[in-house]
Amino acid sequence: MTEQWQPDTWRRKPIRQVPSYPDPTALCVVEERLRGFPPLVFAGEARRLKRMLADVARGKAFLLQGGDCAESFGEFHPNILRDNLRVILQMAVVLTFGAACPVVKLGRVAGQFAKPRSSDTEARNGMALPSYRGDMVNAIEFTAEARVPNPERLIQAYYQSAATLNFLRALSQGGYADLHRVHGWTLSFLDESRQGERYRHLADRISEALRFMEAVGITPEEARQIREVDFFTSHEALLLGYEQAMTRVDSTTGDYYDCSAHFVWAGERTRQLDGAHLEFLRGIKNPVGIKAGPTMSPDELLCATDLLNPENEPGRLTVIARMGAGRVEQSLPPLIRAIRDAGRQVVWVCDPMHGNTHESSTGFKTRAFDAILSEVRGFFAAHQAEGTYAGGVHFEMTGQDVTECVGGAQGITEQTLSDRYQTRCDPRLNVHQSLELAFLVAELLHARRAMNDRR
Ligand code: PEP
Ligand code: CO
Repeated sequence: MTEQWQPDTWRRKPIRQVPSYPDPTALCVVEERLRGFPPLVFAGEARRLKRMLADVARGKAFLLQGGDCAESFGEFHPNILRDNLRVILQMAVVLTFGAACPVVKLGRVAGQFAKPRSSDTEARNGMALPSYRGDMVNAIEFTAEARVPNPERLIQAYYQSAATLNFLRALSQGGYADLHRVHGWTLSFLDESRQGERYRHLADRISEALRFMEAVGITPEEARQIREVDFFTSHEALLLGYEQAMTRVDSTTGDYYDCSAHFVWAGERTRQLDGAHLEFLRGIKNPVGIKAGPTMSPDELLCATDLLNPENEPGRLTVIARMGAGRVEQSLPPLIRAIRDAGRQVVWVCDPMHGNTHESSTGFKTRAFDAILSEVRGFFAAHQAEGTYAGGVHFEMTGQDVTECVGGAQGITEQTLSDRYQTRCDPRLNVHQSLELAFLVAELLHARRAMNDRR
């Protein structure tokens, strides 16, 4: 019999990845302040996302989740946020065309500030310091002072999330995301590339379709879907003191929602069945996710599903598979079969980033475009073979022209990684690579649709 859930019952469970704050009282004071702050999202919005994810679970929509590995306090600029949103909108257009179904847009943004680390310490030149755990915890500079966890950073993360969310809401609902601007979203440096060319061609077709719709009397004033987009936010629920402080009772249903984001997930390092992170997630009513790496067993996944989605509600639980290109073919099918045979409703999403990280000969943490693509292909193939639905993709990406992942049409090499390597944590797809991948995923979606039509 599971114990009654409360927002703080996770505190009685074993917990991993906790920063060691030198002054626990100061942390309590900060959490108390956060409890008095306004929620960042509303329960009704989280329920709306859950309904849209239920459509994904039923094979009627596709999920695009993407954004930075880690947001930072230093790179807080409207142009960066706008460019990130813009490339997500472009990718969504490309995917919508391929899938011919709605694409749910979910950013890793407005709260993605805390990072789990493989090691508690980082050593350089014989000196060991506490690892950098994201700007919400400590600073990235390699000095003893910078690496001390500071609870005031939780407050700064809250304010930056609030301002980010405000700006993204304005862009997605204030006219920027109007489909008539589909040409205007092109970034100037995309113009010359093959992706730019392909995108322009698609944008021409959309503009033509809009003109046709207007001619028959469907205008943006009547059709909200043309004028604005639903854009949702997500992050890893790692710092449970913060998440607890943002958890509020929804006045319309009496249920608890974590109002720090619409969607939160448990990472690969904090998904223990008897651990604090799943305990926290099980009680909030938001749609939630769980990462599944190659060590996840079918039994473990079924137990996690029982715990997180006991009522088998479609849209409630998303399984984010991150196997690695070399392992997806072997490790994913047993999980898919277990879920399918038990009749569990989940959204299956492919994160082709986290199982494909390696160090370049030039000393950079990187990922190869081909490995990323190969994992996505393996994910689709596994679902096709089992008769289940490949529901979406989860990318670490940016709207900037960085050089962090090797490969792609631009031909980034290990030697050119140093040109614009800017990430605080994991290597991201740049704007070209993101769009290129969207076109390739759209081809997979198109092929799936063609095959299903023939059945
Ligand atoms: C992440 O999503 O940035 C991450 C740390 O992933 P994972 O938990 O899958 O390693
Ligand atoms: Co990452």
